[in-house]
Amino acid sequence: MGRLRTLLEPQKMGREAETLLNNLRKRIVGQDEAIRQIVGVYQTYLTGMASPGRPVGSFLFLGPTGSGKTRTVEALAESLLGDPRAAIKIDCAEFQHSHEIAKLIGSPPGYLGHRETHPLLSQEAVNQYHTEKVKLSFVLFDEIEKASDALWNLLLGVLDKAVLTLGDNRRVDFSRAMIFMTSNLGASEMNAIVRPRLGFAAGAADEIVAQIREGNQTDKISRAGKEAARKKFSPEFMNRIDKTVVFNPLGEPELKKILNLELEAVEERVSQVVGANAIRFTVNQRAQAFLLREGTDLRYGARHLKRAVERLVVEPTSNLLATQQLEAGDSLLVDFDADLGSLTFLKEAREIAPPRQVSSGKSAAA
Ligand SMILES: Nc1ncnc2c1ncn2[C@@H]1O[C@H](COP(=O)(O)OP(=O)(O)O)[C@@H](O)[C@H]1O
Ligand SMILES: [Mg+2]
Repeated sequence: MGRLRTLLEPQKMGREAETLLNNLRKRIVGQDEAIRQIVGVYQTYLTGMASPGRPVGSFLFLGPTGSGKTRTVEALAESLLGDPRAAIKIDCAEFQHSHEIAKLIGSPPGYLGHRETHPLLSQEAVNQYHTEKVKLSFVLFDEIEKASDALWNLLLGVLDKAVLTLGDNRRVDFSRAMIFMTSNLGASEMNAIVRPRLGFAAGAADEIVAQIREGNQTDKISRAGKEAARKKFSPEFMNRIDKTVVFNPLGEPELKKILNLELEAVEERVSQVVGANAIRFTVNQRAQAFLLREGTDLRYGARHLKRAVERLVVEPTSNLLATQQLEAGDSLLVDFDADLGSLTFLKEAREIAPPRQVSSGKSAAA
């Protein structure tokens, strides 16, 4: 008799990986490819199938400014370690000269200042955010193209063998780390693909981004990114990276969702200052549309939007709190006034006191 065969579903994930997927999707907009790659690697790690003697995974994130490359790593740390700042972030712009590497690995014994240096990448530092449940580190080398060759050489060893040798010869193990590198490399080439069709009509921008996303423009952009990376980085470096992901440019639907996330974050900040739910905070549709208009600049992606929210919502709200115009128990409505061309801030007392009875005699006398 023939054997019973069952078709399996290798794309189906375990519960923990599924949870991570959902958490990341809630926080990161429009970058599903990046999310899928990360979750795939995490699943492999959870099952115990990550290749031994190497980092759990290594990723190169390319793509336009403000498309969520750095944020994705923060969101991962937030989802798994409970704090977006639990990602170990190395800002590569601070390591443009080879001598600055001592900040990362410490200097050899005998060197001036040896005792004072606490290497940023010691084993304790790398493990510092581990939790009871999650013994993983997320190490981010941000804007990697700015780093000096000395940093590149360090990275080669880490990517290949999951080992970093410190100045005093101690070894740091990275086999429980996910390594992320981000770069805006190729962003100008990507812009060149987007730009010629942008023209001057601001309204056309979203349409173009929509076209880019669905059509073969995505491929073109992706290829431009990877091409630029290959030109800049050596083959031995590129070959050691597990996943190269090119982030998509963000269009209006994505920016709209990000605006909502940002406004939720502002509300959260207000709660932290005044007390949970002490102020009801509403930004109505008209105000949101205005923020979106002010905050859209395709060159800077969501960064520009974030700045618009800081300037137009956070700063005025801080003033209202500092001057006690807004206090616990109030409701704040942020609206848009078309005549003024700006946002207006309205307070609605939560408990509206009944209008006081005015005796007719007195008012007649007055
Ligand atoms: N895809 C996205 N989803 C959600 N928020 C985003 C996204 N892209 C950017 N942002 C917001 O904009 C900010 C700047 O984005 P960032 O990740 O630093 O951009 P970059 O791609 O240049 O590293 C983030 O902190 C986040 O608040
Ligand atoms: Mg970044």
